[in-house]
Amino acid sequence: MVNYSALITAGNTSGTNLTGAAFARVRIIPDMQGKKVLLGVTGGIAAYKSPDLVRRLREQGAEVQVVLTSGAREFVTAMTFQAVSGREVRSDLWDPEAEKAMSHIELARWADFVVIAPATADFIARLATGQADDLLTTLCLATSAPIALAPAMNRVMWANAATQANVATLKSRGIHVWGPGEGDQACGEVGAGRMLEPTQLAGYVANAIAPTGPLAGKRVLLTAGPTRERIDPVRFISNRSSGKMGFALAAAARDAGAEVTLIAGPCSCATPPGVRRVDVESAADMLRATLANLDGVDIFVATAAVADYRPANPVESKIKKTSESMDIKMERTVDILATVAARSPRPFVVGFAAETDSVEQYARQKLLKKNLDMIAANEVGHDKVFEKDDNALLVLWRDGRQELPHAPKVTLARDLVALIAERFAERGKPRLASISA
Ligand code: CTP
Repeated sequence: MVNYSALITAGNTSGTNLTGAAFARVRIIPDMQGKKVLLGVTGGIAAYKSPDLVRRLREQGAEVQVVLTSGAREFVTAMTFQAVSGREVRSDLWDPEAEKAMSHIELARWADFVVIAPATADFIARLATGQADDLLTTLCLATSAPIALAPAMNRVMWANAATQANVATLKSRGIHVWGPGEGDQACGEVGAGRMLEPTQLAGYVANAIAPTGPLAGKRVLLTAGPTRERIDPVRFISNRSSGKMGFALAAAARDAGAEVTLIAGPCSCATPPGVRRVDVESAADMLRATLANLDGVDIFVATAAVADYRPANPVESKIKKTSESMDIKMERTVDILATVAARSPRPFVVGFAAETDSVEQYARQKLLKKNLDMIAANEVGHDKVFEKDDNALLVLWRDGRQELPHAPKVTLARDLVALIAERFAERGKPRLASISA
């Protein structure tokens, strides 16, 4: 049975910064019965609020395991957290007794969700650089559960370029950053740097664990990155693609509540936490993996730069340079996007188009020719788009269009997912003509 509790929350788990005004809405959110939340507390004055966060999480049914850093122990005691969580508090990576009961790796696996509140500037920096020199940073590296940070620090420390760069790095890896809020600070200053209130944070955790976003309960399958087509054992033909847009879209779809599978060609992007990743190499591998994962998929998004042609006769031994020129016979690869769009029944299908000119005209032709529900087009060439962190998109569907202006790919991905969710919901509604018929 699902119990519901009323909480005041903005209902936003997207990692954007939220201020007090955003919390005015009362929402009913599902409880967290049986969910396991690992609460990391680091050394800031806001740690005095963290025992209250434990209580709010437990009120909604979550089991809470507290991990304190050595800095946190300067502000709050383990005894307080043990009393409110009903569990022994962990803080030492090298504690043989505690490791006997549940090792740090088991603890990392145990968690459904990790929230660090408060998260100091120092902790954020250490997480951004991948350090693992204490129990909490080690747990964060070892867990596959989603992670959220609730920063709390002096407003100048928060505004510092180093902190902002670290926060941007963590957000680009799919880590949620909740807050900080603005207002009076313990240091006597006024500005952004306050930890969000425990009630707000508990609401965010509940929404992240039992999602209520526009794609909650939906399955999204994406392709991303380039493919490699073998010429011989040491050479291949490929396309320029960093995979950044596809990975950002996977994270945005996850944040919108979807269960996400990402079929990735060779690229160095980090897998967003909570996203299932299937690595492939060639266009043929990508097609196979896509079809193998298509069952029950609601939305398919093809962002991959799939090679359109592959060497017709790849050879087993390295080709020697015996002549002045060389011809490679190429053959067409199967169009994965068109294959999925031709299926019946089929998911809502979104394609991408990279064009150097007449962007709208060519993209609309692709939308119709491949029988897509939506296409996102961008202008490429002259150093645009590839390996860059920002982009602009023109999104087209049968009877509409929307321009998504130049923005970081992470922001653009969120806007595109919102648009996909809107059109996907619209598709399910009866059309006016069929209502009057
Ligand atoms: N695509 C695919 N499988 C292929 C080729 C492309 O799924 N074998 C998908 C891409 O992921 C992208 C869209 O199709 O979503 C791009 O369409 P495409 O016709 O391949 O664009 P271009 O390669 O730019 O085609 P053209 O050169 O004809 O403009």
